[in-house]
Amino acid sequence: MTSFRALVAREINGQFVRSVEERQVEALPEGEALIRVRYSSLNYKDALSATGHRGVTRAFPHTPGIDAAGEVVESSVVDFAPGDKVLVTGYDLGMNTPGGFGQFIRVPAHWLVGLPVGLTLKESMGYGTGGLTAALSVHHLIEAGATPDSGDVLITGATGGVGSLSVAILAQMGFRVVAVTGKVSEANFLKRLGASEVIDRRELDDNSGQPILSARWAAGIDTVGGNILSTLIKTTQYRGVITCCGLVASPELNTTVFPFILRGVKLIGIDSVLCPMDLRLKIWQKIAVDWKVNALNDIIAECELEDLNVQINRILSGQMRGRVVVNLG
Ligand SMILES: NC(=O)c1ccc[n+]([C@@H]2O[C@H](COP(=O)([O-])OP(=O)(O)OC[C@H]3O[C@@H](n4cnc5c(N)ncnc54)[C@H](OP(=O)(O)O)[C@@H]3O)[C@@H](O)[C@H]2O)c1
Repeated sequence: MTSFRALVAREINGQFVRSVEERQVEALPEGEALIRVRYSSLNYKDALSATGHRGVTRAFPHTPGIDAAGEVVESSVVDFAPGDKVLVTGYDLGMNTPGGFGQFIRVPAHWLVGLPVGLTLKESMGYGTGGLTAALSVHHLIEAGATPDSGDVLITGATGGVGSLSVAILAQMGFRVVAVTGKVSEANFLKRLGASEVIDRRELDDNSGQPILSARWAAGIDTVGGNILSTLIKTTQYRGVITCCGLVASPELNTTVFPFILRGVKLIGIDSVLCPMDLRLKIWQKIAVDWKVNALNDIIAECELEDLNVQINRILSGQMRGRVVVNLG
């Protein structure tokens, strides 16, 4: 039997508790590839899984971690061989399949992405699902016609994982980025990433009842949902484009059709979990080369399995700044 360390969430008397435990490789689910995980990262969804949200994870005990990067140990397919460096994000990893907060995972081979040239395993998890989502959002803005000449791009939840990487990628591409945050004390951090302007989240929380307001933004990346997204839609310029990926403020979206039928505003949903492999590979290639973030070291903090409880509480209370990479040794 080969044992390894993993963070395990258990339900005890109706409460969810998490601790680092010894697990057995032989008890992992069947799959074509066994991976020795070197790095993972913390995403909002991991915190939901770790605290018992049944919409993410149905059965406990469970090891969360929707991201993992490491080396192939065993493979039953020709595309991947022992020693290959790979990463996995999304699919069912960390949801109902034991995830990257353990030193080993066993998964279907079609979930694997070969580590792109230009990224280390640690850097790949600096991006992880948050970075893939930020880059997919940027990709869809550009596909819909946004250019640095179109005007300001608004990014909500700007200090968070998806938000901070979106700020950095777009600023490096020459866009004028306006960052919306609840943490105005982090304005310097956002400016170091390239934000031209930082505004308080309360400025984007319109309660006037008006269906449409003065047009301010050529484009937007929304990571929070709720009334902030409603306000962004009302204040987007003629033929502007918005992507939407998250719900930390609220899963609700109250809007009228007016911004869409009077201004031709486009709202594009972003899903990184089942993102098709051809697009996934194209976006990872962008992340590794053209869109590689100069300020990545400023965005990522590293922790170990034992530190995850503290970080899980931080992300659930909206206190996250940038991305947390988990070192699994
Ligand atoms: N669709 C997908 O494939 C996909 C992929 C990845 C993530 N997501 C979703 O995207 C969202 C962001 O993920 P993340 O990993 O970036 O999370 P995160 O690191 O926790 O960042 C979220 C940020 O949102 C802001 N925020 C928190 N609570 C808020 C509230 N009540 N009202 C308004 N803003 C609030 C905070 O930034 P400020 O303090 O700067 O405002 C926070 O740092 C989550 O809902 C996540 O589930 C979806």
